Amino acid sequence: MAAISDVSLLLVGGGKMGGALLNGWLSNGLQPENVVLVDKNSEILSSFSDIGISTVLSPLKIDPDFSADIIFFAVKPDLVVEVSNSYKKFISNGALLISVAAGVKISALEVHSGSVPIIRAMPNTPSSIGRGITAVCANNKVISLQKEICEELFRAVGDVIWISEESHMDAVTAVSGSGPAYLFLMIECLSEAGISIGLDPDISYKLALETIAGSSELARNDSEPPNILRENVTSPGGTTEAALDILMSENGLKYLLDKAVKAAYQRSKDLAGR
Ligand SMILES: NC(=O)c1ccc[n+]([C@@H]2O[C@H](COP(=O)([O-])OP(=O)(O)OC[C@H]3O[C@@H](n4cnc5c(N)ncnc54)[C@H](OP(=O)(O)O)[C@@H]3O)[C@@H](O)[C@H]2O)c1
Repeated sequence: MAAISDVSLLLVGGGKMGGALLNGWLSNGLQPENVVLVDKNSEILSSFSDIGISTVLSPLKIDPDFSADIIFFAVKPDLVVEVSNSYKKFISNGALLISVAAGVKISALEVHSGSVPIIRAMPNTPSSIGRGITAVCANNKVISLQKEICEELFRAVGDVIWISEESHMDAVTAVSGSGPAYLFLMIECLSEAGISIGLDPDISYKLALETIAGSSELARNDSEPPNILRENVTSPGGTTEAALDILMSENGLKYLLDKAVKAAYQRSKDLAGR
């Protein structure tokens, strides 16, 4: 099995996602001296150079002797194809290219990089606390050792799922890539609803937050599926049933989430068609 401590990594983009992943990898054995971080933002660079990572503002400043096993692109989707053009030298050395850019197809990355090993990945922000879920999809140039090391990297920040059909990555993006925002909105809405019926804001927020966090943890650990867990807390004629009658009505939560996920799915497909 490949070891994260042996990997040399060239990370392009150390913002919200790149930075969260890098912090997770460093806590799980990635060696700072094996990492080069390129970013446009000097504050980001100085926070990582303080812990021994080589940081540069441009690929032209990378030590010519540095050889990367993985070139990891975590810049915005509209930049990634153009930016990858500046890393041809490292890519052509046999490195694995990984991109987390939403909606950017492997074929788009191959335009500048050529027919090289490429993995398209869709992580999510709970990766910053080691509780992410990342879906990954590889082209046919990726060898099994590279798949192992990719899996090792994303396992360091949560769980990993391999997707065989790249076309499913748009659906993945709509469910788990954007999904944390749906849950944050649920916390906001539940908290605001509590305030509207008289609770102190701090108390309502804590009740909402811990209810959603605790219920997610219960659903994760219990052998029963969520519909049974829901039925278990719903007494006929009780308070939960009164609320679920609204949430499960024709235009309720199920309808809204279905519509929301399809909007995200369409947006991801539109981005891919750029
Ligand atoms: N955030 C999420 O929840 C999430 C989830 C899944 C996937 N992703 C993917 O992750 C990627 C990054 O998203 P993000 O939210 O982390 O964005 P972000 O916070 O804006 O991070 C991108 C970083 O890249 C830097 N950058 C811009 N141009 C660069 C270049 N030419 N070379 C090196 N660095 C450059 C940016 O600097 P400046 O700000 O100075 O331009 C910024 O620090 C996107 O493709 C996105 O689709 C994000």
